[in-house]
Parts: sequence; structure tokens; C-alpha cells
Amino acid sequence: MTTNKKLLLWVKEMATMCQPDEIHWCDGSEEEYQALSKLVIDGGAAIRLNEELRPNSLYFVSDPNDVARVEGRTFICSQKEIDAGPTNNWMDPEQMKGILRNLYNGSMKGRTMYVIPFSMGPLGSRISQIGIELTDSPYVVLNMKIMTRMGEEVLNVLGENGEFVRCLHSVGYPLTEGRTDVKWPCNDTKYIVHFPEEKIIWSYGSGYGGNALLGKKCFALRIASVMAKEEGWLAEHMLILGVTPPNGEKKYIAAAFPSACGKTNLAMLTPTLPGWKVETVGDDIAWMKFGDDGRLYAINPEYGFFGVAPGTAMDTNKNAMLSMKKNSIFTNVALTDDGDVWWEGMTKEKPVHLKSWLEKDWTPESKENSAHPNSRFTAPAGQCPVIDKDWENPKGVPISAFLFGGRRAHFVPLVREAFDWEHGVFMGATVSSETTAAAVGAVGQLRFDPFAMLPFCGYNMGDYFSHWFKIGNNADRTKLPKIFHVNWFRKDENGKFIWPGFGENIRVIEWIINRVEGKNNFRETCIGRIPSEDSLDFNGLNIQKDSYEKLFHLDKQEGIQEISSIREFFQIFGERLPQRLGEELDKMEKRILSM
Ligand code: GTP
Ligand code: SPV
Ligand code: MN
Repeated sequence: MTTNKKLLLWVKEMATMCQPDEIHWCDGSEEEYQALSKLVIDGGAAIRLNEELRPNSLYFVSDPNDVARVEGRTFICSQKEIDAGPTNNWMDPEQMKGILRNLYNGSMKGRTMYVIPFSMGPLGSRISQIGIELTDSPYVVLNMKIMTRMGEEVLNVLGENGEFVRCLHSVGYPLTEGRTDVKWPCNDTKYIVHFPEEKIIWSYGSGYGGNALLGKKCFALRIASVMAKEEGWLAEHMLILGVTPPNGEKKYIAAAFPSACGKTNLAMLTPTLPGWKVETVGDDIAWMKFGDDGRLYAINPEYGFFGVAPGTAMDTNKNAMLSMKKNSIFTNVALTDDGDVWWEGMTKEKPVHLKSWLEKDWTPESKENSAHPNSRFTAPAGQCPVIDKDWENPKGVPISAFLFGGRRAHFVPLVREAFDWEHGVFMGATVSSETTAAAVGAVGQLRFDPFAMLPFCGYNMGDYFSHWFKIGNNADRTKLPKIFHVNWFRKDENGKFIWPGFGENIRVIEWIINRVEGKNNFRETCIGRIPSEDSLDFNGLNIQKDSYEKLFHLDKQEGIQEISSIREFFQIFGERLPQRLGEELDKMEKRILSM
């Protein structure tokens, strides 16, 4: 238990509003996890998977209308609207609190309120932060146990006077008189709300990952990005990997790709080039601070992976498959007849019969997918066969390169390097990508997703760009990570991916590492440095002769089109757009026009 007065008072206040039948303080123990597993299984919300095939693992299907993040219902309620910026939804904080207090009023009736103390980052690291999530969802508690360091020890670190981020979550389905529970309680009315000045998160109506596991996107990105701006560090939607070339000189890379664009896959890639090794520090979020030596050090604030299931297979991402062999949770995938899981792309041969995520009989003839495109696995990071030995090092790991990227069928080459930090910030600011099933809405539509942070920046994105410039201005330039942009998703005239991706991406990493080490293996183009033809290893790749040309060709007309859409995008930031970005755009335009 805790003696922290602020915590005790807040829990009491929230309980008075939500009116749960009981309050349970989570200790994070194995017994507690098993008791909660039993509770959700007995209540019919979950199935225990086949103990022999998938020990200690749970299977959930959600309400069909609660399967992804809801960006349209996500709000940044800063005091001033301008501080939320043009890319976030905003409402006056007091007005929003009024609306939400009405919804929370009695919203936990008939349920237990769980108090989850959690640490984002290794306990006691100077980069880590503590949060407390109050929730009426046992599904959330079970997932938080895998995704964060959770329980008693966190309260010890918090101590009597420690500060914490207040996270309140309710599925919005009170069990008032006569109302029976359902498998996946949620509410049609959903609000994912952040009060950045007070460091408070109020989430209502959804049980889905990014909407409900509040340590992840809400805290580790939206609230933490505000802290990072205030305190001079970085909270980013980035994987972290360690890569050891045949020469043995290990380096760490952090990479930002939009949701469902390949972070988990790159973070634990199995290299196809001999002598190369990749190890995983994190697959979704990086928190970075400068060390005494002037370098940027990154930690993974999370403790598990909440990964996209479809497409994950032994031949695309073996290490993810092995990470979820046991002690894992599966949401909205398909169920096999022998009590295991399946999803599109997991095996070449499809099972003859499945229960789909919609709980319908499924056979290979079925028209619908058996698993939802945004179905997810929750697996302990410590179970990853290639987890880095320093993944829990409280100091973090030193970053040598930043990668940005997205899904771009056209124009954007396989890889390019920024000319300098400022050009790199411009590259990050102009990331655009086709939308995916990770958020509710149309899939495959091209949109700008600067730094892969469009849905996750807790303040005005124009100020966020300035923050990145400031980081560069205050640092020793020679020690800053080099910046690159990658695109695994360029398509040919038949609509097929040109680049094989996955384990073959090590070839691009090799070129990047060579650049970090200062090799002059590049060609200058108007959008950055690209590999010279002989410096990217195509040996043994089963792709066409003209692939280099197809992966790197720059079309002038497409370039002009790109410039005009960037210009239009930049306009929405008005006065908050750093002048430097406009200058970078003008320079790029000049270079393209003189092509
Ligand atoms: P979030 O968890 O939503 O942030 O996603 P993520 O960025 O971690 O994406 P993830 O690695 O889970 O990949 C999403 C989808 O892209 C999966 O279906 C992958 O199979 C697919 N994918 C990943 N890497 C590659 C690649 O190099 N090439 C191709 N063609 N597909 C890829
Ligand atoms: C994402 O959408 O970027 C995710 C999944 O990583 S979620 O945690 O649900 O937001
Ligand atoms: Mn993500």
C-alpha cells in the first residue's frame, strides 16, 4: 500500500465519481494475474488457449465496433486552443471535464475499480516516469501487467511525495440493476482526452489497446511529448534496435514509422546478410535524453509488445512469433480448432476450419478475413529471443541514426540520407504515409504523418518541429544521430512491392551503418543522398535487374506535386511553423526545378 497522500486523495475522488462496488490495488503479482485470468475466463470474456501449444495465454475478441484507435474522438485539452495546434482536436478543459464527469458519474457501478501503479521505463532510471491508471477493465489490467512494469515496487519508488500521471479509464458500461455484463463492455460514446498542463488522461468508452492501455500512446507519447518539450528531451513513436556488423562495432538505431508500417518487424529483424546481428530494445516508443558525453541515450518505456498480428509469420518475423509462444494475450485474431491462434499471413497453408474474430465459422473459401486487420498480440519483451542485453539499462543506449519512413507507393526512394540535421528535421516533418487499420477510418489514403507523431503529439505540431530544431541547436553536432528516410513500400507498374522487405532490410541498414561510419558510398540527389549503385548489396536477391532504377528513380513531375502538397500542409501551422522548414522546402523546390 501507499502513503502517498496525493494518490490516496485522487483515488478517493475518482471512486466517488465513478462509484465502483469495490477498489482493488494491483500488486502486480503472478497470483493476481492468475486470479484475473480466471475471472475473465469464468465470466466468458476470454478463452484460455491450449496449454500445450500456447501456455498461459488468453484469447479475447472485442466488440466489432471497438477495434482500433479513435483519432476523431481523441482530444488535447490545453488551456489555449492554439497550444493543441491544427492537427489535434481541442476543447476547453473545463467544458470537457464537465462532459466527462457526467459520463463517469456512476460509470463503474457493479464493477471493480483497479488501481494500477506502473512505471514507464526501468524502475529508478532518470528517464523513467510513473503513472497510475484507474480502470474498470480486467482486460486492461492483464495487458498492463505485460506492457508495463506494474505493481507494488512502483509504489515504493513513488514514495510519500512522488509525482505521477493520473490516468482514468472506464469502459462506460455500468452494471446497474438488472443489467448483465457482456463479453467486451464498451460504449458508443468514446473520449480519449488529455489535459497536458495537468498531466491528466481521461479515457472513456473503449477497451481497445491504444485507447485503454493509458501508459502507451496517451502517456508515453502524448503527455510525455509535452514533458519532453518542457524539459529538453524527446518522446517519440520510434523502435530502438541494436545492430552489429561483421566488424563487431555495434550501433543503435531509432526509427519512426506510422502505425502498422513496420516498426515491430524492423526492431527484431532476422538479417539475411551473413555476419550481421540485430537485437531489440523496443518496438514502438523511445524516450531519449542527452548523456554527459553529449550523445542521445534512449530507453524503451514499455515492458512488452502490443503488435499487429496479420502478416506476422516465421518467415517474416520469427522473433515476434517466438516472443508470443507463451504468457501472451491475443485480441481479435482467429481461433483454431485445437485452441490456438491464427491470422492472415501466419502460414502459407490456411487452416481448413477456424472460428473467426467475429465468432463465425471460417474456411479458406470464406470471403472475409478470419482475423481483424488490426488484431494484436500482447507479449512480454523479455521473451524476445533477440532482446538486447541493455534493453533494461537505466542509462539507455546511445543512438547513432534516426530513420523516418512510411508507406509510399510512389516517388519516395528506398533510402536516402539527410544533408544535415535541419534537412533531417524537414524529412521528419514531411513524412507521409497511407493510412492503416490501426486507426478507425479509411485505409490506404495518403496523409502527412510528421515524425509518425500526427496522432500522438500532445501539443502544437509546429512547436514540436521547433523543438526538434532546438535539440539540434543545443547539441554537439558531431554527436547527433545522422538522419535517414526509408520506404519499403514502393510499388511497380503492376502494383507489386519492388523491395522484398523484412529480413532483407538489413541491406539498407548496412548502407546506413556505412554512412554513419563515414564511407563515401552515395550519390547526391535533390531530396537527399542515396546509395550509389554498387554500394547497396543486391547480391543473391531475387529481384529484377532494373530494381535499383525502380527503387531510386526520381520523377520531376512527382517532385513538383510533392512540393505543392507539402506547401499546402505547412500552411495549416500558420505562425507556429518554424521559418527554417519553409526555407528547407524552398531549397528542395529549387533543386527539383533545376533537375
Ligand atoms: P504499430 O504497432 O501499429 O505501431 O505498428 P508497427 O509500425 O510496429 O508495424 P508492424 O511491424 O507490426 O508491421 C505492420 C504490417 O506491415 C505487418 O502486416 C507487417 O507484416 C508489414 N510489414 C512490416 N515490414 C514490412 C516490410 O519490410 N515490407 C512489407 N511489404 N511489409 C512489411
Ligand atoms: C499504434 O496504433 O501505433 C499502435 C497500437 O502501436 S495502439 O497501442 O493500439 O495505439
Ligand atoms: Mn505504434
